[in-house]
Amino acid sequence: MTPMTTLTEHLKTQKTPESLIGLISNITATCHDIAKLLHHGPMNDILGLAGAENVQGEDQKKLDVISNDMLKESLAGSGLVRGIASEEEENCVGCSDVGEYLVLFDPLDGSSNIDINSLVGTIFSVYRADENGRVEDRNFLRPGHEQVAAGYVLYGPSVILTLTTGHGTQMYMLDQNKGIFMLYNAKVQIPKATKEFAINASNQRHWAKPMQNYIADLLAGETGPRQKNFNMRWVAAMVGDVHRILCRGGIFTYPWDKKDPNKAGKLRLMYEANPMGFLVEQAGGKAFTDTMRILDIEPEHIHQRVPVILGSADEVDICIGYHTA
Ligand code: F6P
Repeated sequence: MTPMTTLTEHLKTQKTPESLIGLISNITATCHDIAKLLHHGPMNDILGLAGAENVQGEDQKKLDVISNDMLKESLAGSGLVRGIASEEEENCVGCSDVGEYLVLFDPLDGSSNIDINSLVGTIFSVYRADENGRVEDRNFLRPGHEQVAAGYVLYGPSVILTLTTGHGTQMYMLDQNKGIFMLYNAKVQIPKATKEFAINASNQRHWAKPMQNYIADLLAGETGPRQKNFNMRWVAAMVGDVHRILCRGGIFTYPWDKKDPNKAGKLRLMYEANPMGFLVEQAGGKAFTDTMRILDIEPEHIHQRVPVILGSADEVDICIGYHTA
């Protein structure tokens, strides 16, 4: 049997700087600890609500808070990180004044799935720190195309790391006994065409007209304008839906809707759309809002929300076509 390549070995073949390898190892080691907690979920008394709301006004689960604290502490102690921004923190948190990187994360995406033992994940995004000294929120407001690494760890039947450092997208599986991530897909490639879509259809009446028309045409199947039948899937955790798309193609959208006029979409630019956009583009897919490439958005604040349309390149083009017609 050919020996498998470890995460660290593979990053070295890509000439990844030592400091970035150290940072990614730090994040993935913490994710391994989060995976262990999830594995013993009900026995660890970690399920249910924490009894507070996060900065987004959403109920925090105990595990949201625990995983946020675990990542924050290990990154702060690494000496590699200038500061972190998290979906669960109101403002950025300074770490080391000489740290080389800024890290943004959603510690537990899809947390409504925790209590039903379904898919959840940790999403992260890494930038080089640009100025010396203590960080402020404004230091994080950089477009997604400046990310130097992005990834997620999916806590499912297997624990999977999907990662890009700008040299394609790779998938690694956690060897639970050794605590090491092993490479199993060195070149993730999203098929250009698809017959599968993911959207929370219960919001249909709130969508803008172009999205209503697009989905109506998919649902019309082979007798409609698209002349083929589509299948629908919805995990209710972006990390699960994006993982499926990276594995077998598809289109995922959480579009603009008029449910809450203060929100341009549900998903967060800095913790979800940007890292997933980077992974998807590096795998040959596309990631757009309804008007522009996600990675070109100049962020206005760290908790900004954006509409998201990503996945198989041809299908994203078709969907965007409805919005620009
Ligand atoms: O971050 C929020 C999130 O949980 C995503 O992971 C997921 O795609 C979406 O919300 C699910 O939304 P809804 O509750 O509308 O299905």
